[in-house]
Parts: sequence; C-alpha cells; structure tokens
Amino acid sequence: AARPRVFSGIQPTAGSFHLGNYLGALRNWITMQDTHDAFYCVVDLHSITVAMDPEELRNNTRYAAAQLLAMGIDPERSTLFVQSHVAEHAQLSWVLECMTGFGEAGRMTQFKDKSSRQEEEHVSVGLFTYPALMAADILLYRTDAVPVGEDQRQHLELSRTLAQRFNSRFGSIFVVPDAHIPQDTAKIFDLQAPGSKMSKSVPSGVVEFMEDPKRSAKKIRSAVTDNEREIRYDPDDKPGISNLLVIYSAMTGRSIAELESDYEGHGYGDLKKNLGEVIVDFVTPFQTRVQEYLDDPVELDKILRRGAERARTTASETLRTVFDRVGF
Ligand code: ADP
Ligand code: NA
Repeated sequence: AARPRVFSGIQPTAGSFHLGNYLGALRNWITMQDTHDAFYCVVDLHSITVAMDPEELRNNTRYAAAQLLAMGIDPERSTLFVQSHVAEHAQLSWVLECMTGFGEAGRMTQFKDKSSRQEEEHVSVGLFTYPALMAADILLYRTDAVPVGEDQRQHLELSRTLAQRFNSRFGSIFVVPDAHIPQDTAKIFDLQAPGSKMSKSVPSGVVEFMEDPKRSAKKIRSAVTDNEREIRYDPDDKPGISNLLVIYSAMTGRSIAELESDYEGHGYGDLKKNLGEVIVDFVTPFQTRVQEYLDDPVELDKILRRGAERARTTASETLRTVFDRVGF
C-alpha cells in the first residue's frame, strides 16, 4: 500500500533555525521520512508578506535548505524543494483565497499578533491571506499529516475547513489533513520569558542553531528560573525549570522523571551547565555539515531543482483537477 503523505514548510526569512523549530516541528519532519511519503518545502513566498531584500531572501533560502539537509532531510527519500519554484502554490492559493471569508481570515491570531506590531500602512494584504497560501501548500499534495508546532494549530484548522468546503462545493478532491503536533514539545518557551514561546524576536531567549555554540550555552546558563532550589517539573509554578527539563529530555531521550531523580540534591547551575553541553555537542557537527552544503552551491541547487520537478508532478495534477472543477 502507498505510504501516507506528509507535507510541511518553513520560512527562510530569519536564516537560522532555532531550538523551538527543531523540537516543535523539524524533529518530526526527520522521523516521518521513515513512515511517510515526505514533501518538505522552504516557503519563500510566505517570506515576502513583510518587506524583504532580494539578495538576502535568496541567501536565506539556500541557508534554510542547507540546514534542513544537515539536520537529516534525505533528498533521496524525501521531496525537498523551494515554494516559488512550483508555480501551482500561488495558483491554488488564489482559488482558496476566494473561498475564505474576510472575517474568518481576520480571526487568525497570528495575523492579529503580527499586524498589531506594525504600522497599519505597512501591513500587507499578503500577511492577511497567508493562511490561504499555507492551505494551498498542504492541499496540493493531498497531504495526510502536517508536522508543526502548537502555534500553527489554528492555521491547520483553516486548511481543513477549506478542504472540506471545496470538496462539498465542487466534489471531493482534497484530502483533509491532520495536524501532527508533538505531545511534549509542542511549545518551547523563551529562556528569558518562560511564559512566551521561544522565537527569534527575543535574541537572549532563543537558542539559534547557527550561532556560536558557546553563546547558546551561555544563554542556557542565564535562563530565568525561580527562587527555589528543587529541580522538579511543574509548568505552572516553575515554568523556567520545566522548560529546561522538557528541552533536556527531548535532546537526550531521557525521561523527565529520570532527570528529576538524577538531579536530586543538585543546583540549577548543574542542570544548566550540562544542558549547555548537550546543545554544544548537537550543534557543533550540525554547523560543519551546513557549511559543507553551502560550500557546494551547484550540488545544493541540483537537489532543489530535482525536488521542484518531483513536487510539480503531483502539484500540477491536483491543480488541473481543481481548475476544471472551478470552471477554468
Ligand atoms: P513559520 O512562520 O514558517 O511557521 P517559524 O519559524 O515561526 O516559521 O516556525 C517553523 C515551525 O516551527 C512551525 O511548525 C512552528 O509551529 C514551529 N515553532 C516555532 N516556534 C516554536 C516554539 N517556540 N515551540 C515549538 N514549535 C515552534
Ligand atoms: Na510560526
């Protein structure tokens, strides 16, 4: 029987991936290659929802692809490609935008967050319609599962709604996709503000995979904790320590209970120092592999071109059916 299909995307905007991306989503991208027919996409169309320098965008796209390969996305088994190389994404997006309610799009919390942080005249229509493009990304490949972090749950729900709406209006074409959100690491918190999610907007609270590993270790040593001394998992009363335990557990495969018992009688400093070492040991060889991919741009471009060709085969077939049903 054919394997179920997985699709997910990540923006190249910011350059370096961080620990939240990895534990919330990318780790599942890698493991699902063993069980699924995988399509993974660097979503550069999404990056121009905010003003973007062309040369920087081009570099970030390569940089993102190199990091995905270095992390373990295998281009022989999985289809790794760049969104703008497959025109069908934008074409299907238009159809889905026309089936999305204005109020429905306005209820997306990520739009409300992002738009409230900008001057109104700088908020693009593209930022508003972003979730319809994301739905197009997913639905083009008749995707069964979408590995993402908790913050994408609402967008995924809209993708499901749009798939069902299209199917009931025009006849069944789309697979209704399921979000694949990890249980323990769905939301990794900021090291300095353990009430908010880890993101690149707070440089001191995020572990970036391409920064100097010593800097990452230092950020972990300075993570905000509490005034007690007990290393115990309690996300309500001890969010800082709990976040470190979640990260430690996910990065080593040791259970939280095991870590609690190993660290009994130890101070927060010991836990932070050891977790820092775990991170350094992870990112150091990773950075070497990224550099190897970046040093061979011809090979990198070849991988992405091949990925786009494979993606287009499926995407164009879906789009042809959609256009036919719509009346084009
Ligand atoms: P995008 O705008 O492409 O979603 P992000 O870098 O915000 O870019 O997220 C990429 C992936 O990483 C998404 O699946 C998102 O849910 C996940 N993610 C981002 N931040 C976190 C976090 N702090 N904890 C868990 N998952 C996260
Ligand atoms: Na996001």
